[in-house]
Amino acid sequence: MSFANAVWAFEPTTYKPLKSPDGRMELYFKWWQAPFGKGSVSYELMRDGKPVIYGSQLGFELEWRDDLVYNFVVKKIEFDSFNEVWQPVWGEEANIRNHYNEMLVTLEQPVGKVKSMDGSTDKRPTIMQIRFRLYDDGLAFRYEFPMRYDGVDNALVCFWFKEEMTRFGLKGDHTAWWIPGDYDTQEYNYTESRLSQIDSLYEMGHEHGGWPWTDFSRRGVQTALQMKTDDGLYINIHEAATLDYPTMNLELVIDSTPIDMAYLDTAHDDYVIKDNQAYLLSYSFRTHLCPDAAGYKGRMQAPCHTPWRTIMVCDKATDVLRSRLILNLNEPCALEDVSWIHPVKYMGVWWEMISGKSTWNYTDDFPSVKLGETDYEHAKPNGKHGANNDNVRRYIDFAAKHGFDALLIEGWNIGWEDWYGKQKDFVFDFLTPYPDFDLPALNKYAHEKGIRLIMHHESSASTVNYERWMEKAYNLMNQYGYDAVKSGYVGTIIPFAEGHYSQPINNHYHYAIVEAAKHHIMVNAHEAVRPTGLCRTWPNMIGNESAMGTEFRERIHPGHTAILPFTRLQGGPMDYTPGIFEPDMGKIVPWGQKMQHTICNQLGLYVTFYSPLQMAADFPEHYEPYMDAFQFIKDVAVDWDTSIYIAAEPGDYIVTARKPKVSSLNKAAESLASLPDGKKGVISNATRYVYGIEDTNALTHSHINALKPRDTWYIGGITDEESREVEVKLDFLKPGVKYEATIYADAKDACGLPNTSTLTHSHNNTLEYNPYGYTITKKTVTSKTTLKLKMAPCGGFAVSIRER
Ligand code: NOJ
Ligand code: CA
Repeated sequence: MSFANAVWAFEPTTYKPLKSPDGRMELYFKWWQAPFGKGSVSYELMRDGKPVIYGSQLGFELEWRDDLVYNFVVKKIEFDSFNEVWQPVWGEEANIRNHYNEMLVTLEQPVGKVKSMDGSTDKRPTIMQIRFRLYDDGLAFRYEFPMRYDGVDNALVCFWFKEEMTRFGLKGDHTAWWIPGDYDTQEYNYTESRLSQIDSLYEMGHEHGGWPWTDFSRRGVQTALQMKTDDGLYINIHEAATLDYPTMNLELVIDSTPIDMAYLDTAHDDYVIKDNQAYLLSYSFRTHLCPDAAGYKGRMQAPCHTPWRTIMVCDKATDVLRSRLILNLNEPCALEDVSWIHPVKYMGVWWEMISGKSTWNYTDDFPSVKLGETDYEHAKPNGKHGANNDNVRRYIDFAAKHGFDALLIEGWNIGWEDWYGKQKDFVFDFLTPYPDFDLPALNKYAHEKGIRLIMHHESSASTVNYERWMEKAYNLMNQYGYDAVKSGYVGTIIPFAEGHYSQPINNHYHYAIVEAAKHHIMVNAHEAVRPTGLCRTWPNMIGNESAMGTEFRERIHPGHTAILPFTRLQGGPMDYTPGIFEPDMGKIVPWGQKMQHTICNQLGLYVTFYSPLQMAADFPEHYEPYMDAFQFIKDVAVDWDTSIYIAAEPGDYIVTARKPKVSSLNKAAESLASLPDGKKGVISNATRYVYGIEDTNALTHSHINALKPRDTWYIGGITDEESREVEVKLDFLKPGVKYEATIYADAKDACGLPNTSTLTHSHNNTLEYNPYGYTITKKTVTSKTTLKLKMAPCGGFAVSIRER
């Protein structure tokens, strides 16, 4: 007996199910006499004959007309299938299979059956279609609204959603890794709990989180939401291809239904007993879209469709990491020429400001800044401005010496004296450098050394102001040879009352990407909406933050980075900004605290996190004492031919192996060489590693063509506050071939967990904080070798393996 049967105790019409290509998953579409009024529809998802999602409602509540939840008749059900392999411009693997079976259900609310303020439904039928795609690793569906169907105009032309009614009915009180539902930030630690505990852990879920935050319910959570059933099934709810639509949050609903004790299956049912009456408990999520300033949740104009709603179902945690469900549901690349898009390994004048060592602002003179009026030329420098010519040159020298592609510089433009928390409209112009930042000269200096500068556009969440300046700002970038921008949306969105994830603001982020592509600019947007796989269509979107990243320093819980690949990274790469070799922030500023990781943990992130844009975030002077460990960051690639997910458990650990994509190894350097002042023949350090070029002067890139790349792999591992030993079988290496492995491992006494930590909710660690301890060993390995690797609390490891 289960709740689903109890409530849905009306006889539905069930249609021929849709099956996944491997036959293990089944999707049932049903039409009901009740309970949402006659003619409501639902779906149910089974795996291996067992329900994963029980009968769950579909549809919408609308403004100014009857809802799209009942009075449907099923007009037609069509089946189709698709199987292809496509090549992403960059990614975790060179070839991605997109294989699914599809079912398109056409629903009609017949003329006169529902009421509308404009009377359209008295004259024309209402048509809504639901397109289901069933993959081996999950279900996706979306709603579609054609302009005409069967030669008749749809009564839905321009329509406004009050709410999307999609439900996700869950078969049990699953374990979930969640962040609180929000209209403005995803910068939260994850909480691991049972679904039923979300409400009581609401406050804890918000601890140390981002600003501004706008919640809507104690039971609200964001997607991608990773869950695990008591049977060990991994279920992940997210969305794909969110365009011209608000972001989906979920709200937990716990229903309790009185049940006769005789029918209770006490071993399997979730129930409570009150006053001698048993109640069956059931858990489901309802959709809660981010409203716009006027409260609408989607202003639609046919023909149109919603984003895909996705339910990934996997037997193993590593299969979740392997899934390409979200990317596959996005449209193919929209750009004809992608030759200008390339992976980027970069450093930045950034951590100086985040850590408090230096400032974004140039002066402390101005409590108020008005663009075009404030006189910076005569202002007194505060002596702590990070983006000054000398300091930028110091970073360029270091990045160039160690084979990086690019350098980000924040705080280069006027306005930083008066931005944060002010919510000004005219906040930055993205054009005017500070007096001590010589933009043309620094770009020339960088290009001649083989480095690109990365532009920074902090919009301060004034999307109106950013759009005002965007074209000029992108032109300036083109003029000086910048080909990548990091943008930011810190603060309350302007126009006021919009959230960060409402439909109009989601449209802004997309506009910024599309306009950037016209200028051959790659975008890494921070605080923008979390991605939903749009990088397949717009591969110039090379990164996003849109989650709690390194900037949260000691506030990041151990295990956070072992959750993100299951959740945030499902939609696209994250600019997590790893590589902090001096995690004791107290050594930088008196108020600094200890970050919770070892150096080897940071190395492991370069492999366990996928991003074609990867940063070495710390100061050059923090790398200098550990150049032998820094070598891994220099050698590691950022774009992949093959990825193998060796072991993983959300929130605990991840071990991943990746083989670099040789064709993109030196693409950044080649792109730089095409600039008139760009240094020719630069070879990135990863290229050197893969080709085994030891002599840093001997070769230019044109000579590389004569060499053969060696079979190369990188392995990374990370763990939470628990130390762990993992065994990694190298059976993915070519048989009979000898390789040299360089193993970067936590030392015996290494420990990334400060024993003073009050931020970690449960641990009983006895080791002293020693994030710096590591060992580096070289050894010959073959496909028969098994490596035993030990990770310290909050530790990790990295291995580079190259054919001899
Ligand atoms: C927040 C971003 O995430 C961070 O990387 C950046 O430095 C600041 N905003 C300032 O723009
Ligand atoms: Ca941020």
